[in-house]
Amino acid sequence: MKSSDYALGEASSNHITNTQVSGNKFHDGFQRQFSYLRLSITDVCNYRCNYCLPEGYQCDEQYDNLTLEEIQTLAQVFAQHGTRKIRITGGEPVIRKDLTDIIRVVKSTPGIEDVALTTNGYKLEDKVESWFDAGLDGLNLSIDSLDPRVFQTITGHNRLKDILRGLDKAICLGFKRIKVNAVLLKSYNLQEFDTFLHWLQHMPISLRFIELMQTGDNGDYFRQNHVSGETIKQRLLAQGWQLKKKGPLAGPAQEFEHPDYLGSMGLIMPYSKDFCDSCNRLRISSSGKLHTCLFGDGGYDLRSLIRNNHQADIAHEIQQQLLDKKASHYLQQGYSGSTRHLAMLGG
Ligand code: 5AD
Ligand code: SF4
Repeated sequence: MKSSDYALGEASSNHITNTQVSGNKFHDGFQRQFSYLRLSITDVCNYRCNYCLPEGYQCDEQYDNLTLEEIQTLAQVFAQHGTRKIRITGGEPVIRKDLTDIIRVVKSTPGIEDVALTTNGYKLEDKVESWFDAGLDGLNLSIDSLDPRVFQTITGHNRLKDILRGLDKAICLGFKRIKVNAVLLKSYNLQEFDTFLHWLQHMPISLRFIELMQTGDNGDYFRQNHVSGETIKQRLLAQGWQLKKKGPLAGPAQEFEHPDYLGSMGLIMPYSKDFCDSCNRLRISSSGKLHTCLFGDGGYDLRSLIRNNHQADIAHEIQQQLLDKKASHYLQQGYSGSTRHLAMLGG
């Protein structure tokens, strides 16, 4: 089936040009425009990453995930207000059986130029080709350690080998972008810094070291394991890595390159000054709540408007909420809003 055959709603069959769809962009009171949506399609996860869900997923609410039709409604609304890129996240999005259809529907939305997926690598080798065929442009894969035992200690699963096989397959398929995320953890993977860099010499990927963020549930763990991204930046610069110039649509990651390495390196430093200045992203939870900041005070419920496909009202509410978006989070002060763990919103 071609992506254009998979039309569920009226706007999918229209060819809206970029000038038409970018008329009324979502924006906040600090001249920031929002061209990137992170859409969570489930908050269930099958891993137990010790910084995120150390006890595994706890089913405290009945889950009522956005349906395929509702996802299409959202993609249309966001595309009509300047969104060009949608990242599908979880929990673990691969848990959903209709993930390939979701990718296809989002990718066929007029105005959406780029669809990416964040995954922990579950079923990667099996499924990656169907995602690629459905139109997936970018893949973000979490690999917190290249040592199988450490990987298991962090995630609760002995799956590193399978994931690396899936990664090789993804590279062969020719995705536009493949990123590998590793959360830097003092007691677990900091000593692998050189191993990761060595790996990058021959891997055509972008490795992202993510500074551990404090969430509602991980206070003690955070204090024991947080490594400042600034120290890592200094180590990279000392080893000849160079900071790349940011493009106008770039997000908050600082990107580095090195002539001897096939791969590039990104640092995500949420505690650094100015991190929020380039914020270009909005988040929707798997139950249809809008989060204008990862570390804000709970989401704004859009579900009944989404369910009824009231597109103009959804857009109006999103724009209204954005006018209240703060200039920055208050992570430095130890305040992580109502985010208990990032499985709630996919990071
Ligand atoms: N701090 C930093 N990164 C986190 N992730 C999950 N929880 C945290 C946290 N507390 C990462 C995951 C994944 C991405 C979506 O977010 O490892 O790579
Ligand atoms: Fe790990 Fe991501 Fe699952 Fe959290 S949501 S347990 S970080 S795989």
